[in-house]
Amino acid sequence: MTTRFLTGITTTGTPHLGNYVGAIRPAIAASRRNDADGFFFLADYHALIKSDDPVRIARSRLEIAATWLACGLDPERVTFYRQSDIPEIPELTWVLTCVTAKGLLNRAHAYKAAVDQNTAKGEDPDAAITAGLYMYPVLMAADILLFNADKVPVGRDQVQHVEMTRDIGQRFNHLHGKAWRAAGGEGEPFVLPEVAIEESVATLPGLDGRKMSKSYDNTVPLFEGGAKATREAIAKIVTDSREPGQAKNPDSSSLYAIYRAFAGDTESAAFRHELEAGMGWGDAKTKLFERIDTEIAPLREHYDTLMAHPDDIEDALREGARKARAVAAPRIEIMRRAVGLGALVAPTGKTKIAKKPGKRARIISFRDDEGFRFRLVGADGEELLLSRAFDEPRGAGLASRALAAEEAGLWLVPVDASRFAFMQDGAALAASVEFTELAARDAAIERTRAALASLRDAE
Ligand code: TRP
Repeated sequence: MTTRFLTGITTTGTPHLGNYVGAIRPAIAASRRNDADGFFFLADYHALIKSDDPVRIARSRLEIAATWLACGLDPERVTFYRQSDIPEIPELTWVLTCVTAKGLLNRAHAYKAAVDQNTAKGEDPDAAITAGLYMYPVLMAADILLFNADKVPVGRDQVQHVEMTRDIGQRFNHLHGKAWRAAGGEGEPFVLPEVAIEESVATLPGLDGRKMSKSYDNTVPLFEGGAKATREAIAKIVTDSREPGQAKNPDSSSLYAIYRAFAGDTESAAFRHELEAGMGWGDAKTKLFERIDTEIAPLREHYDTLMAHPDDIEDALREGARKARAVAAPRIEIMRRAVGLGALVAPTGKTKIAKKPGKRARIISFRDDEGFRFRLVGADGEELLLSRAFDEPRGAGLASRALAAEEAGLWLVPVDASRFAFMQDGAALAASVEFTELAARDAAIERTRAALASLRDAE
């Protein structure tokens, strides 16, 4: 069994060291494991919530895509795409919105923080808060659930969103699981994902000791501005006023925490020891810069090349979207049927439709070398479905009766672009012939649905 990792980065800013250590590096490391299947995307719809500056969003998409590729993400090996290239994501978002408790969204940290700020300023609690901010967790749930991710590598600030994703997924599974299976889906509609946090380094402190974050303006850039910008940012890390020669407390210093994120245990212990033995802050900053640059300099070179060739990045992302949609589209098709948005079928239950007398579809039972089978034949004699072989005539008889069940129309499911099947409990009871075109397959599904409805009417 492979574990599917999925993570996104909101395309509002320029990646900084905190993003690298907390998200990009662990996610790329995970993507190299043989038992892992990685989905990585630019969360550009999320970016619209945080920014209304199109120039900034566009630039950030390029920088972030280049960053992930420069840091070693291999688009051949993983699925690397843009959220806005996958129309199935907003489609799922709406369906999930309709099963999400409003109260759950009221409790989201980001929304609550915005409300608290307004209240503190004496303003209307919802002043300047968009519905987008409020709905943020549902869009994120759709990102994750659409692809059945097992693990979601994120920073600590995103843990609540993954928990909400589980809540929303569970609610959908509970409400629509049965219909999902009836519509040909396997197992539960959605895998309930887990967060993956690299314990030691998940949150990097910034220049002022608070979490490194664009919103605090305390970041160290990853690539932008070159080594010079990194060195300058490090020089601004706040320290206490202890002089060279005086013992420093490594645990109260961002310098040491950042160093740890780049160095192994032995190297970190040596750095710690030097601080305790009185290394000056200036020297410590030089050491920190050099340690970081050893890891970053080769990646930066790759980054600069990529930034000069946006078309190559664009090609990679389009190919990624194609791969992602090949997973997403069939799932959305089943989801649509499960919630009642599939193609129209004749009403079931008590309503009887006045029907014209005449030829009807019929089931023809027969036996061949492999066992007992049946065919569903349309009113005009077209073969619509051929069953699998059953050992006993009774098995074939029971299965053929399922064709006349009330919901039978929902159990016709595309198998691939050229065939469909009549599914029950995840197994194909009967299959169509092969069609050369998608449209022909879909038209045949509709004819078969009508044939199933007419079987029912005949009962
Ligand atoms: N909300 C995440 C952040 O700001 C980005 C994101 C969007 C994401 N969708 C996701 C992360 C799905 C993981 C999985 O960091």
